[in-house]
Amino acid sequence: MEILRTVNEVRQWVQAQRVAGRAIHFVPTMGYFHEGHLSLMRRAKADGGAVIVSIFVNPLQFGANEDLDRYPRDFERDRQMAESVGVEAIFYPDMAEMYPSGYQTEVRVKELSKPLCGKSRPGHFEGVATVVLKLFNIVTPNRAYFGMKDYQQLRVIQQLVRDMNLPIEIVPCPIVREPDGLAMSSRNVYLTPEERRAATVLYRSLQWAQAQVESGERDAQKLRAGVLERIAAEPRARIDYVEVVDAETLLPVERIERPTLIALAVFFGRARLIDNCVVAI
Ligand code: PAJ
Repeated sequence: MEILRTVNEVRQWVQAQRVAGRAIHFVPTMGYFHEGHLSLMRRAKADGGAVIVSIFVNPLQFGANEDLDRYPRDFERDRQMAESVGVEAIFYPDMAEMYPSGYQTEVRVKELSKPLCGKSRPGHFEGVATVVLKLFNIVTPNRAYFGMKDYQQLRVIQQLVRDMNLPIEIVPCPIVREPDGLAMSSRNVYLTPEERRAATVLYRSLQWAQAQVESGERDAQKLRAGVLERIAAEPRARIDYVEVVDAETLLPVERIERPTLIALAVFFGRARLIDNCVVAI
């Protein structure tokens, strides 16, 4: 497996793959891998082509009071995990390679960046869209893999690709969960054992909502209120938001009539966890 530290090294590696007639399958990440990340890499591998993963903790997508400095990092562990699932190259740039002095440009996907996490994390999706567009221009993948855990991020990137005519197929991948339902996240390491137990309320609440829809509930406010009530019953939970929105536009809905996203963000101690499910009728 190749460790590529510069844009030029990536370009040369990609060129060699293309000469060999291989497609490029790309998994952008911030590292500290878990089964969620590995599921994207396995899927990229199973789809054929050469798999390249990026590891870059992107400062542009962190707010001033967020966890940029303490975001978990372990390159050696990541390297071994990526190798074990057949990844062929890791792009591991430093800050100066991605944002050299004099860097100025940002991209913004206007509407999809506003609701949900966009409200509590101003500038976050601009940071995501900007780094992902840069990574796409560096790696020039045929396909790129994104987890539905970060559903709004996935929608922002799909819109970016469409609006900027990028010749890249975005492949959405299902949420990977712990046995008790907690969505895997690099940020789960912030949880104390008590918070870790308490955090299982998130998936249970989403499952409750899903079951309600399956038994005929169509009233979005009732679903939202039920999820809020269940999470509020957990004293360690501090709710950022619970929203019921159209799965495509991310705008609030009153009735469940089309694919609908139930999305939430909740603090447990210093960890801000997100989770979601898409309900279809
Ligand atoms: P990161 O949080 O490292 O996530 C990398 C990819 O793994 C994302 O597509 C994310 O949705 C996916 N992922 C994380 N947890 C998952 C889970 N439990 N199940 C399925 N997929 C999961 O998302 C980012 O990095 C960054 O914002 C990035 C896109 C790299 C831009 O900096």
